[in-house]
Amino acid sequence: MTDFAFAPQSCPIDPAVESALRALRPIRAAALLEFARIPSVSTEPRHSPDMVTAAEWVAARLLGLGATDVEVVRTNLHPIVYGRIHEAPGAPTALVYCHFDVQPPDPLELWETAPFEPFLRDGRFVGRGVADDKGQIVMHLAALEAMRAAGRTPPVNLTFVFEGEEEFGSESLFQWIEPNRERLAADVAIISDTGYFEGNVPAITIALRGIMYAQIDVELSPVDLHSGMYGGAVENPANALARIVAALKGPDGRVRIPGFYDDVVALTDDDRAAIAALPFDEAAFRAETGVPALVGETGWTILESKTARPTLDVNGMWSGFTGDGAKTIIPAHAHAKVSTRLVANQDPARVFAALRDYVAEVAPPGVAVTTTYIHGGEASLTPAEHPATQAAARALRAVHGVEPVLIREGGSIPVTAAFDKVLGLPVVLLGFSQPACNAHAPNEWLAEANFENGTRVIVRFWDELASLGAEAPGP
Ligand code: BES
Ligand code: MN
Ligand code: MN
Repeated sequence: MTDFAFAPQSCPIDPAVESALRALRPIRAAALLEFARIPSVSTEPRHSPDMVTAAEWVAARLLGLGATDVEVVRTNLHPIVYGRIHEAPGAPTALVYCHFDVQPPDPLELWETAPFEPFLRDGRFVGRGVADDKGQIVMHLAALEAMRAAGRTPPVNLTFVFEGEEEFGSESLFQWIEPNRERLAADVAIISDTGYFEGNVPAITIALRGIMYAQIDVELSPVDLHSGMYGGAVENPANALARIVAALKGPDGRVRIPGFYDDVVALTDDDRAAIAALPFDEAAFRAETGVPALVGETGWTILESKTARPTLDVNGMWSGFTGDGAKTIIPAHAHAKVSTRLVANQDPARVFAALRDYVAEVAPPGVAVTTTYIHGGEASLTPAEHPATQAAARALRAVHGVEPVLIREGGSIPVTAAFDKVLGLPVVLLGFSQPACNAHAPNEWLAEANFENGTRVIVRFWDELASLGAEAPGP
């Protein structure tokens, strides 16, 4: 197995911390495996007790590392974990955010082993949540653990906020931020829930898409109807839903909801040039994804289409008879889960209203159609030129020996915009998973090399941030 320890002469972090990291390697690997055994699936009500177990696991670790004010905050849904290590008077304060909730593990039959029985084999951790995002929490904890073992105090002040609703829209955290502004006061927010570019190219994410998630329900009758006795005389909800869904997006990849693009901040020529300059291998991306062909929005590259342009997708549709054989019915109802990915400055609430109105307009008569908002979050742009972003870039470069790239990601981390707009903090998106890590899919994995290097990047980053002094990082 690869040895991740750095030779003393080329050590990119404090050698005392490096030697502590070497000694503690099996301990932090075991910690991640223990943490990933907790099935903290935020979107499934039956896992609510597991959300509390996961929160308490994190809180106990923070306490063990000498954090103060540690609290498992109860909310209307899942807990938030708060804690602080403020031992560097005069140094900058970083607000550190990750999430301990995970996506549902199904389809279970496609996992090589049970999703919540994680293991480390051939240089990879495998299990639900190891990459998204529990591994990244453990990297932050491991960086601190090594600093403590080396007899050092963290050179910056750290305030931790770990949440349990990220995969469900972060509603409780949104409500908690405003009344807790003072406890969250910082110079910069660090979010570790992103990762590398094109495999292992170290990256800082400078833009995330927002999201607006809704459900469309089409109702005909209380029960299914005989399709011979009623067919032709009533509207079929599945046919109706197909017509509605077909109206939402054109073959050119453009969303057809009136007003959808109204608030989109246009990409500049420089933005487009920066995206074009990234080392993105479209053919490899297609092959790795296993799709027959890539389809982007007309007029935009594939990389632009999947990271910097808004879009709309059906996440699931169901109706009527789907068993083996045949059954002749007109389904009583039909449903679709629809999400839009948004860019700056689209407002999820406005996009929802536009979708709802458009669905009502294109819905055929003869069925009752309703559109319901499920969750949403704004897109975010983070400041690439900010000294804290540059400090993160230096930390990545020091550990990896190559220049990091600045990338846009198509995924969403709803709280990012709130840290910016409500708390007024510059945000640095510094994460350590690989794009092919099977996040949200079976056999999610995290390379131990990324786990090891990420921990060292965090150690180096705190030193880089400290060297800026207290005044430099401000918004
Ligand atoms: N870690 C991801 C966000 C992400 C995805 C970052 C891809 C970088 C690349 C996060 O956990 C996530 O999955 N977010 C959800 C948000 C939602 C459910 C509100 C998403 O993007 O679907
Ligand atoms: Mn995540
Ligand atoms: Mn996720």
